[in-house]
Amino acid sequence: KTLDDLGDINGKRALVRVDLNVPMADGAVTDDTRIRATLPTVTELADRGAIVLLLAHFGRPKGMQRPDMSLSLVTRAYGEVLGRPVRFVEDCQGSHAKDAIATMNPGDIAILENTRFHAGEEKNDPALAAAMAELGDIYVNDAFSAAHRAHASTEGIAHLLPAYAGRAMERELKALEAALGNPERPVAAVVGGAKVSTKLDVLQNLVTKVDHLIIGGGMANTFLAARGVDVGKSLCEHDLKDTALRILDTADHAGCTVHLPYDVVVAKEFAANPPSLRIANVHEVAAEEMILDVGPAAVEALADALKTCRTLVWNGPLGAFETPPFDEATVALARTAAALTVSGSLVSVAGGGDTVAALNHAGVADDFTFVSTAGGAFLEWMEGKELPGVKALENQE
Ligand code: 3PG
Repeated sequence: KTLDDLGDINGKRALVRVDLNVPMADGAVTDDTRIRATLPTVTELADRGAIVLLLAHFGRPKGMQRPDMSLSLVTRAYGEVLGRPVRFVEDCQGSHAKDAIATMNPGDIAILENTRFHAGEEKNDPALAAAMAELGDIYVNDAFSAAHRAHASTEGIAHLLPAYAGRAMERELKALEAALGNPERPVAAVVGGAKVSTKLDVLQNLVTKVDHLIIGGGMANTFLAARGVDVGKSLCEHDLKDTALRILDTADHAGCTVHLPYDVVVAKEFAANPPSLRIANVHEVAAEEMILDVGPAAVEALADALKTCRTLVWNGPLGAFETPPFDEATVALARTAAALTVSGSLVSVAGGGDTVAALNHAGVADDFTFVSTAGGAFLEWMEGKELPGVKALENQE
C-alpha cells in the first residue's frame, strides 16, 4: 500500500520512518541527499493535514543516550532543506513524547529522538514497537536504506498500525524491480570494490540472474589469480580462489558471461600519478607491481558489451578511483552507461556509497535512471535477500 491508499488523514498522526543517518562534520550535515529523499512524502502528508512524526536512527549508539548522536543535531538542517519549521521531540516513545505531540496541529512536522537510544530498537522489542505505535494512527516507511534491519521502527511497528510505503520507498522498489525483478534483457551487472569476501553473496546471486557480469576493482585480482594469472603484489584474497572458480563455473552453467580485465593499469606504489605507472596485459604484471585499474582496451570492450544491453545494475568502482589516474576506467564506463541511458537504450540503476561517489565524480549520477541512497540495504537486495522492512509492508491486508 502506498500513500494513494490513504483516505482522509486530516488531523491524523503519521509516524514516518525515514533515514536521517547523514554524514556530518563540525556540526554540519555534509551531504543532504537522504534528507531530500524524504521531502515528497513529508510534504504530501503535511499538506494533507497529517501531524507528521519522523522516526529515524542516527549512528550506532547501541542503546545509549549519546548527545553526539542526537537527532536534534539534524533538525535545523532538515528544516532548512524542507523550507518549513520542524520541531524536535526528545524521545520516540513514552509520556513526554505523547505530551509534546498532543500540542501539535495538522500539518506540523517533528523529528523524534534517535530510535537507537533504546536498546529495544535493534532487538525489535515488541514493547518498544508498541510504545512507538501508541504515538501514531498510521505508519509510513520511507527508509529503504534501513529496510535490511529488522528493528522495532522498521519492522515491528509495521504490524501494529495500518502501514504504507512512502514515495521514496515506492520509487526505490520500482527501480529495483525494473533492474533485477523483471528486467528487459540482456542485463549487465558491474560489481567492483576492494574485496571479494564482502560481495560473495552478491556475485553468487548475480551470476544466475544477469547476462553479463563485469568484475572490477581489487576483487577482480582474486578471479584473475584463480585463473592462474600472476597478479604481483596486487590486493588479492588467495584463500578465496576456489570460491572464485566456483562462481565462474556457476556463471558458465547459467549462461552468464563474466568479464575480467585483460589489460590493466599497474604501478609499483599506490600514489597519485606514480612514475612507475604503465598499462600492461594481465599476463605481464611484474612481481613488484600492483593492479590499480582496468586498462583502456578492456574498458572499450566493456563499453561495447554494455551497448548490447538493455538494463544495468552497478555496485562498486572498477579501480582505486579516489586516486588519479586510477579513476579513468570507472569514469569512462560510467559515462558510456549514462549516455546509453540518456539515449533511451539502457535502464541503469546504481547503489552503494562508493558507487554514488564515483558516479558523482564522473559527473553522471543525474543521468542514471535511478541512484539508490542505500548502502547495506542495496547490497542485501543484490544478494537476492528479502528485506524485513519491505516484507512487513507487503504483509499488510
Ligand atoms: C545506512 O547508513 O546504510 C543505514 O542508515 C543503515 O545504518 P546501519 O548500517 O547503522 O544499520
